[in-house]
Amino acid sequence: MDNNVSRRKFLGGLVAVPTMAALAAPLAAVGAYIYPPDSFLQPPAPKKVGNINDLKAWDYIPFGYNQAPAMVIKTDTGDIQSFYLKCTHLGCTVEVPEGNLDGKQLVCPCHGGYFDPLGNNTGGPPPTPLKQLAVTIEENGDIIVEERMA
Ligand code: FES
Repeated sequence: MDNNVSRRKFLGGLVAVPTMAALAAPLAAVGAYIYPPDSFLQPPAPKKVGNINDLKAWDYIPFGYNQAPAMVIKTDTGDIQSFYLKCTHLGCTVEVPEGNLDGKQLVCPCHGGYFDPLGNNTGGPPPTPLKQLAVTIEENGDIIVEERMA
C-alpha cells in the first residue's frame, strides 16, 4: 500500500475544504429562509400592556408588540380594543395624537391615510382597518394582548 500523498492531491484538499465551506454557508441561509425553524413560526407570547382601571374613556396606551408599534384603547362603553399601528396601505407607522382620543383621528403620514380611534379606515388610501390584536382582561384589570389566531 502506498502511503505517499502526491503534492497535487494535498494541495487539492487544501483548496477543496474552504471552497466547500464557502458554498455551504449561503446554502444554509437559503435553507433557513425556505424552511425556517419552528421558533420563527410561533406567534409572539401574550403581553401585559396596562390595567383597565388606569384608563378613562378614549384613553390609550401605546406599546410595541411583535416588533411593531401598537396601542390599546378604552371606548366610552368600557370596551378595550387593541391593534397594530402599521398602516394597511403600504405599512408606514400610523401617528396617534397626544392625550385623549375622543373625536380625534389617527393619521398615516405617508399618503394621508386616516383611521378612527378604533383603527377603522376612514379616509385616504388604506383599504382596510388596522390589524386587531386579541384582548383579555384579567380579574385584577390587567390588559393582556396577543396575536389573533386565524
Ligand atoms: S402607507 Fe399609510 S397611507 Fe400609504
